[in-house]
Amino acid sequence: MSSTIEQIKERLDITDVVGSYLKLDSAGSNFKARCPFHNEKTPSFFVSPTRQTYHCFGCNRGGDILSFVEEIEGLDFKGALHLLADQAGVEIRKEAQSVKSEKNDLFAVLEEAAVFFEGNLKRQNDVIDYLKKRGLTGETAKKFRVGYAHAGWSNLYELLKSKGYPDVLMEKAGLVVNGDKRYYDRFRSRIMFPIRDISGRVVGFSGRIFGSEDEKTAHIQAKYVNSPETELYNKSKILYGFDKAKLAIRKKGFCILVEGQMDLLMSHQSGFENTVAVSGTALTAEHLKLIKRLTDSLVFAFDADDAGIEASKRGVDSALSMGLDVKIVALPSGLDPADLILNDKKEWEIRVKEAQHIIDFYINTLAGKELEQRDFRIKVGELVLPYVAKLKNKINQAHFISEIARKLGIQEEPVWEELRSIPLDEKRINKNETKEPVKNTQLAPSRIEMLERKILGIVLWDEESTKNTLGIDEVKEKNKETIDRIKDKNILDEEKRKVYIFEAEVYYGETKSIKKDFEELILFFKEEILKEEFTCAMGDLRIAENKGDVASVAKFLKLCQEISKKINNLK
Ligand code: CTP
Ligand code: MN
Repeated sequence: MSSTIEQIKERLDITDVVGSYLKLDSAGSNFKARCPFHNEKTPSFFVSPTRQTYHCFGCNRGGDILSFVEEIEGLDFKGALHLLADQAGVEIRKEAQSVKSEKNDLFAVLEEAAVFFEGNLKRQNDVIDYLKKRGLTGETAKKFRVGYAHAGWSNLYELLKSKGYPDVLMEKAGLVVNGDKRYYDRFRSRIMFPIRDISGRVVGFSGRIFGSEDEKTAHIQAKYVNSPETELYNKSKILYGFDKAKLAIRKKGFCILVEGQMDLLMSHQSGFENTVAVSGTALTAEHLKLIKRLTDSLVFAFDADDAGIEASKRGVDSALSMGLDVKIVALPSGLDPADLILNDKKEWEIRVKEAQHIIDFYINTLAGKELEQRDFRIKVGELVLPYVAKLKNKINQAHFISEIARKLGIQEEPVWEELRSIPLDEKRINKNETKEPVKNTQLAPSRIEMLERKILGIVLWDEESTKNTLGIDEVKEKNKETIDRIKDKNILDEEKRKVYIFEAEVYYGETKSIKKDFEELILFFKEEILKEEFTCAMGDLRIAENKGDVASVAKFLKLCQEISKKINNLK
């Protein structure tokens, strides 16, 4: 009998597992993607189907199917094992109750609640009729595990209690509320939508009112009640429906974003399984990162009556500054996607297909308002240009400038001028984002040159001015080869020597840790050299990939791996 791990590895292919999280492109006999574990523009994350491993040359993470799932799901080894065993259909012996962590208990009580609500719905004909009237099929309701919570204060509480779940656990799961004297159910008289994490486990609920929670307070009850933030439900990280949308997003190459649960269910039902919902929270950068792992193309389908300013609240800003391509589905005024799909499924398909780039959308919305030419120009400057400024892709930017100029009936140059006048801070929405370095090869020395100069400065200073009084001889001895290489390369005239020695004295004259500093400089220098080698090897690898030269791909991949190992060993 082979072990659980072996069985899992026999049944699951790393390409499929990784591929359900990332957009993989083929690279010779391997696959590559942008690394999910660190930010990067060009892919340096490789998956090898033959070895069933992955490796990122950017951040040096690597491993097998299990370590990948651990890392990407934020699970420990055991958690990853369970998740993969489920997917592979491999049985794991049940652990003793005492070993289970609190997280597992929370998952268990939430799952119990989901089953309870599902069961309730089966016997609730008025709710079933309502859902049918909304256009939902039984199949969709089942797929998303729609349920029902009866009116009454303690239906769920009593059930969970009878099954032995502690009060505190129910409270921590967000299912019950701790009142003055007793616990009571958070969700009452509501259609229940379980909220699931990326791998499909229930972490919370959203409940839509059906009927009335309580006669006396019927006039003030909220249309939706959601689970609070819990250990499992981090609202800024969980998108409703993401677990069911992952594959379709990858396949279709774009992601539709809607606001509500019903919108999401109807959109999936109409064939757009690549739909996710924000469901009651603001769209965060973390939500966007989840999406960006799978695609660069995001389609907003919010009922956007007065778009423009509104959209910035909704995360369009951060989406653009993250380099996502943002489009907007024009919805008929007053209708949300759920309404539209119920009315006319075909119409929804057409509108998704005809989704406009955010900037076109704004220009056209403004154009539709029949403003005076002067006001139109002002509005475009105020509302549209800031978005153009945020575009990362400069070719796109140029395209929209010419588009705007055409629409305004003016030359391009004044539009460019206007764009340049937008303050830098407004252009960079994400203020923490590092500015693109200003590259001027003529004037600015490279990092390697800077390091060489500093190292050389210390060596010269030590030899000539202070005659080995700095106590760095061992460091010099140990790195003789490197230092000789730097010396040879930089044959200095008398003038430069003086300058370098002077600089060293200014920099290091006061320090007490010259030995450590010197050692660090040499380390950085070696690292820079290796990084340059790595970039070269990576370039060769790309060329080989493009040619489809399998042997060379393997060779350069190995080289890249060796170099990155060396870089790692330095640290
Ligand atoms: N929402 C929420 N809390 C509220 C109101 C709304 O969390 N008090 C979220 C829900 O996810 C809801 C979405 O915002 O689905 C959109 O709200 P709304 O348009 O009011 O509801 P609909 O989705 O249109 O609900 P329905 O079609 O069932 O009336
Ligand atoms: Mn609605």
